[in-house]
Amino acid sequence: MLYISIQFRNIELKNRWVMSPMCMYSCENGVANDFHFVHYGSRAQGGTGLIMVEATGVEPRGRITNHCMGIWNDEQAEALKKIVDFVHTRSESKIGIQLAHAGRKGSTWNNLQIPVEEGWETVAPSPVPYHPSERIPHVLSIEEIREQVQNFKEAAKRAIKAGFDVIEIHGAHGYLIHQFLSPLSNIRTDEYGGSFENRIRFLLEIVKAVNEELDENTALFVRISGTEYADNGWNIHDSVELAKILKEHAVDLVDVSSGGNIHGAKISVFNGYQVPFSSQIRRETGVKTGAVGLITKVEQAEDILQKGEADLIFVAREILRNPYIAVQGSFEMKENCFFPHQYTRAKISS
Ligand SMILES: Cc1cc2nc3c(=O)[nH]c(=O)nc-3n(C[C@H](O)[C@H](O)[C@H](O)COP(=O)(O)O)c2cc1C
Repeated sequence: MLYISIQFRNIELKNRWVMSPMCMYSCENGVANDFHFVHYGSRAQGGTGLIMVEATGVEPRGRITNHCMGIWNDEQAEALKKIVDFVHTRSESKIGIQLAHAGRKGSTWNNLQIPVEEGWETVAPSPVPYHPSERIPHVLSIEEIREQVQNFKEAAKRAIKAGFDVIEIHGAHGYLIHQFLSPLSNIRTDEYGGSFENRIRFLLEIVKAVNEELDENTALFVRISGTEYADNGWNIHDSVELAKILKEHAVDLVDVSSGGNIHGAKISVFNGYQVPFSSQIRRETGVKTGAVGLITKVEQAEDILQKGEADLIFVAREILRNPYIAVQGSFEMKENCFFPHQYTRAKISS
């Protein structure tokens, strides 16, 4: 199934391999450069069905570090367009972008918070830092929450102008949207906190605002943490309920990761450790899902699809090691996959 195409709105992916979004911390002022051109371009040469550009800040405070990617201005969008155009003209891959806001996990370097003078005052739903040693984040007022929704909408508009095929909203890993979802990081008492309905409101408002910008030529994915591995925290049942609602709101795929919101949470990591969350969400809601997390082998990826545990396979570290995993898999499985015509002589090993 890895090489059976799949459609999201009018976007057809030639195969089920996705380059998972990965921060490269290599921008100045949020602008993509030659490194990113080669980095993403080589995964297009490698036949990857969908390339997801790393977490990209919808405003300066939405970045994790000073060197993260941004899409809050036209210069940033123009730099990304160069990559998108290459992917569209030189490969059969599609390309998406992950729109993100780091919230209380911003203003860091090497996973440590940096001083306000070198970074910025972080924002969050509640005055609860990620780690007790960190600064208390600024609590977003209702008006500021609306501004954040607008930031995602404007970012989506720029992404469409740059030609992206897919927009993924980053609702996972303890970043701003996840901070709203979890009762452990969101202790608000207004309409954005308390009940499940209130905690998911921020994400749903973003989904609605972004969808207003999209037509059938751009698909919408949402990445969530299936669980945050904490008592009384966000869990897989919440994720199933959320996925049902996202499906009703025209979200095309839920990309299922886990963790990231609770410092020191115990996570048992093994091959395909997050696949069961994707599987449960897919089974219980009928929404299309993406599986991610220690998927490193072609057979393993094929098996996940065959068992109906996911519709797409997101690969992060393995595709850094092997940008050609999609092509390599097609050779192993004797399937068709894009391969640069310049490389045709390498199709047969003898
Ligand atoms: C260098 C690096 C940067 C990452 N940056 C992001 C990111 O920008 N957005 C995101 O949702 N996940 C990010 N992740 C998580 C990956 O997308 C993926 O979910 C995780 O690494 C598990 O997949 P793997 O076992 O295939 O590496 C990052 C992972 C790595 C290794």
